[in-house]
Amino acid sequence: MESSVDRPSKQKQLEELEQEMAADVSLPLRDSNLVFGEGNPESAVIFIGEAPGFHEDRLKRPFVGLSGKLLDKLINEIGWKREDIYITNIVKRRPPENRDPLPDEIGAYQPYLERQIAIMKPKVAATLGRFSMNHFLPEAKISRDQGKIFRFKDFLVVPFFHPAAALRSTTMLEALKKSFKELPEIVRGAESLLRELPASDAGGTRVAKAEAPTQKKLF
Ligand code: URA
Repeated sequence: MESSVDRPSKQKQLEELEQEMAADVSLPLRDSNLVFGEGNPESAVIFIGEAPGFHEDRLKRPFVGLSGKLLDKLINEIGWKREDIYITNIVKRRPPENRDPLPDEIGAYQPYLERQIAIMKPKVAATLGRFSMNHFLPEAKISRDQGKIFRFKDFLVVPFFHPAAALRSTTMLEALKKSFKELPEIVRGAESLLRELPASDAGGTRVAKAEAPTQKKLF
């Protein structure tokens, strides 16, 4: 039996996954750079955005433009450092002209997101915007469900407004800031919440039944 000593580190496994993605010619949007994700693979929290934009494509790093500046500020305001958490996107290459990712593009990239998560085993997935939220919770609505806590398989999902949307609307910015402030406590309580909330996905397949997502409001 393989012991934990023989198993490659999460960092190594993520690097191998990135190489596999880079070589996967079936993936769409291959005219732009692969922006795999970055941060601490041991983090209990993974932030998942939509898709890289112009600056992310250029630097091959997620959330480094204006939205990224806001995300950094929100992270710092709750006493965290960007390098201590992990940040990625559901679609890992830039759609032309920053258009919304298409369903087929999301479908092509999502198995890689799932494998990234399987390697990291985070306790909380903080989704930024509706595309990554709907990957876990297909029926969820961002304005209704942002800031709520859902269980998906063996981790929690907390949907947030996308920082780019918050930059265009003070109402969304205030809601995003308020929900963000609750994140440290959600992460601290994640183990006990996961014990308390029944799994919405008993069979190990992607379920997150949105008619009745397993949801609990802590505050
Ligand atoms: N918007 C996203 O959704 N992801 C990024 O990496 C940058 C902007």
